Amino acid sequence: MPKNEQIRFAKRVKELRKRRAGRKLLQYFPAGGPLRRELYPKHMAFFAAGAEKRERCMMAANRVGKTESCGGYEMVLHLTGDYPEWWPGRRFTRPIKAWAAGDTSETVRDIIQAKLLGRWGEFGTGLIPADTIARQPTRRRNVPEAVLDIFVKHVSGGVSVLTLKSYDQGRKKFQGTEVDVIWLDEEPPADIYSECLTRTMTTGGMVMLTFTPLSGMSEVVLSYIEDKGEGKTKALIQAGWDDVPHLTEKDKAELTAGLRPHEIDARSKGKPSLGSGAVFPVDETKIKIDPIAIPAHWVQIGGMDFGWDHPTAAVKLAWDRDQDIIYVVDEYREAQRPALEHAALIRAAFGEWLPMAWPHDGHQHDKGSGEVLADQYRAHGLKMLSEMASFDEGGNSVEAGLQDMLDRMISGRWKVFSTCTMWFEEFRIYHRKDGKLVKLRDDLISASRYGLMMKRFAKVKQTRSVNEQSIMSYESEY
Ligand SMILES: Nc1ncnc2c1ncn2[C@@H]1O[C@H](COP(=O)(O)OP(=O)(O)OP(=O)(O)O)[C@@H](O)[C@H]1O
Ligand SMILES: [Mg+2]
Repeated sequence: MPKNEQIRFAKRVKELRKRRAGRKLLQYFPAGGPLRRELYPKHMAFFAAGAEKRERCMMAANRVGKTESCGGYEMVLHLTGDYPEWWPGRRFTRPIKAWAAGDTSETVRDIIQAKLLGRWGEFGTGLIPADTIARQPTRRRNVPEAVLDIFVKHVSGGVSVLTLKSYDQGRKKFQGTEVDVIWLDEEPPADIYSECLTRTMTTGGMVMLTFTPLSGMSEVVLSYIEDKGEGKTKALIQAGWDDVPHLTEKDKAELTAGLRPHEIDARSKGKPSLGSGAVFPVDETKIKIDPIAIPAHWVQIGGMDFGWDHPTAAVKLAWDRDQDIIYVVDEYREAQRPALEHAALIRAAFGEWLPMAWPHDGHQHDKGSGEVLADQYRAHGLKMLSEMASFDEGGNSVEAGLQDMLDRMISGRWKVFSTCTMWFEEFRIYHRKDGKLVKLRDDLISASRYGLMMKRFAKVKQTRSVNEQSIMSYESEY
């Protein structure tokens, strides 16, 4: 090829490459080929749900395309209004005002900004087609190479504005204006999420969440999981590695190799890990009630956790069997007293008649010592059940017991009298870290768990008839 033709050819290749780079968006979800849209059913479900629901969450494994081909992709379609003919989701026919946010200003710059615009100095090579960038983005102050507002030409002729934000700015930065589309990449704090809902309320706008649920059953995650039945307002789509065609078996094996055991479910399947976060991520007001009189036909049972350095704790539970609601009605927690004293105090507070559930291990290190301690307390006048705590169907797993309590809290079947202030302290701090329960102070919670496990032995409080009472007092005179 002659020299000048060579140069012309090289220029043409460069031009084509640039043009293709500027239309990155078109590479996603083709009709055919190994990465065809048909092989992305979860992505399609997420898009389609947007036509019906204002709140959507793609709670998914790592690397499945949450940022790029869910949140980012959809955001760009709304900014430009240039939807592909197969688009199953919602369509805006006018320019929009939008926000995209993530954890920190740096991660927003390095992830959201980079995916949407391309690298600094190469804007137009990201998901936003180069020829739709209306003008240079404004810059964010105090963060190098970070942009604030991105201006995108809308097919109607106007300009859409996308503002980048970060959770570390705090909820207040999410107040104020009305917004059409908000995309939160990575799990937002609950207060920021609800602020975002408010922002999109009056516009009839929408909120999209895309994240891997590493914080376990957080408030936001729970709000989606709990949202069931007829009044359902949110769409939850969960996706794992097997729901996308772009990850090979080799990719999956390599990704798995680096994972810590308690993270595997969240990172590979998009299932909330129980590895960290609150054990009971439930709004306190949902379970707290002012004390009520316990109706005579409700059955009651105590639960006890032994301790020496750790306090000895006990709770009194009442069970409304008709509605299947458990109430924590009274609490006892004291450290470093002999069994005799604990027993006397508990008897006085809860009543002598109350059957009492107890655990298999009296001390943390001393499995089997529960029996010995139960005998002691029995000798001191508490009505210790004849066997250690176990479920109806056998077994005494801590996790199963906690799950039972959590299910009840979520469905309104676990209530705690507001007078049980120590119980609420424990409830607030009880959490998991790196897959393990942090046993800072869980004495009353454990006592509650034992009582719940043994609820089949709960009894109605015996109220003696007048006759019996007079016989008793008659007898006692002798
Ligand atoms: N629809 C798609 N078609 C083809 N490749 C895709 C698609 N979605 C994602 N990918 C590929 O997967 C990579 C990871 O995508 P992305 O960063 O969006 O995943 P993520 O789920 O946000 O990951 P992380 O958990 O790290 O945040 C992309 O760089 C791209 O190579
Ligand atoms: Mg991502």
